[in-house]
Amino acid sequence: MDLLATISIGQGGLDEVGAFARERLGGTAKRAFIISNKKVFGLYGKRAEASLRRAKFATSFALCGDGERYKTLRSAEKMLAAMAAAGIERTDAVISLGGGIVGDLGGFAASIYLRGIRHIQVPTTLLAMVDSSVGGKTGVNAAFGKNTIGVFHPAAGVLADVDCLRTLPEREFVAGGCEMVKHAAIGGKKLLGRTLDYFSDRDSPGSALKLADLVRDNIAFKAKVVDQDPFEDAARTDGRSRKILNFGHTLAHSLEKVTNYRYFRHGEAVGYGILYAAELSKKTCDMRQKGCRIVVRCCAQRRRSAACCGHRASDGLRGIPIRQKEYFRITSDGPASGNRPPGHFVRQSDPSQNCFLHPRSIP
Ligand SMILES: NC(=O)c1ccc[n+]([C@@H]2O[C@H](COP(=O)([O-])OP(=O)(O)OC[C@H]3O[C@@H](n4cnc5c(N)ncnc54)[C@H](O)[C@@H]3O)[C@@H](O)[C@H]2O)c1
Repeated sequence: MDLLATISIGQGGLDEVGAFARERLGGTAKRAFIISNKKVFGLYGKRAEASLRRAKFATSFALCGDGERYKTLRSAEKMLAAMAAAGIERTDAVISLGGGIVGDLGGFAASIYLRGIRHIQVPTTLLAMVDSSVGGKTGVNAAFGKNTIGVFHPAAGVLADVDCLRTLPEREFVAGGCEMVKHAAIGGKKLLGRTLDYFSDRDSPGSALKLADLVRDNIAFKAKVVDQDPFEDAARTDGRSRKILNFGHTLAHSLEKVTNYRYFRHGEAVGYGILYAAELSKKTCDMRQKGCRIVVRCCAQRRRSAACCGHRASDGLRGIPIRQKEYFRITSDGPASGNRPPGHFVRQSDPSQNCFLHPRSIP
């Protein structure tokens, strides 16, 4: 399947979401059920609804809580009940309007409602545009882990309007930037160089255009990887496996879970995960020092974000109000880890190389 052909990226596209959905869903779809949250729906819901109505959809909506802790089976069940109350049928569709949480939750609800109805993604965060809306992974978190309940349910279409990024808070923008660094680190030198260039000077004239181009290239990159391995075949170990997109995510998911999904934005945790993976690769797989330095530099550009504070805890803390500082380190092999096996958190009183600021320190 040519995934890229189902994706529309541009400025001002939100007002065309109705026409886009009609084109992707065909004439049989009568109802569009919007899943969003209060904040995003307040900003963009009316425009999306108006556009859908112009394209002859009957619209209804349900709003979920804002935050990772609402990406649960309980929220999904509420969405399903609202869909049933709105009379959604098998030929109708769910429209997720929001960030990755709304996208994952809406996609999951669509995938199980009446054994699966179609889903359109309208991502409004940088992270959702460049990553989560593309590739068909949907799901919710559980007590036993993040994204541990879910299915592959590729969206019938994705419409990304980069104008929506204008209202995105800086911290969310930065978190999305970390997923861009992930793509760039695995995508090759050219994308990495451009990403570094953009984040080094975001205030330069023409940076909006650079961003739009980068969003487009990130989506194209992810779509290409997903096309080669759409359902992440567990048995595959070759270089074209989709697993490469999980770079940095082992640590990221652990960080999110041990902090009850309350401290890190997902992208920030990925930023840490990338740094950790790069360090490990340098030590264990002989990753070149230069490659590692570039990845670290790229992540460290995002200083304004509280939690994604770069290689050393002190790097990212300028200008950020901090409570009493606490640090932690993640054990790897070697004498410094004492008796602890690799991958454990160890509290430290002082900052040092390879340690991170504990999220508790950030108000
Ligand atoms: N399915 C996948 O392949 C995939 C990939 C990566 C991440 N994810 C998931 O994505 C989630 C993170 O997504 P996220 O970073 O977009 O977080 P999010 O959905 O929580 O959105 C971040 C915040 O921005 C607000 N917001 C959204 N759009 C806005 C806008 N245009 N203007 C102002 N505020 C806006 C939201 O209300 C929220 O408070 C995680 O649950 C992660 O697991 C999924």
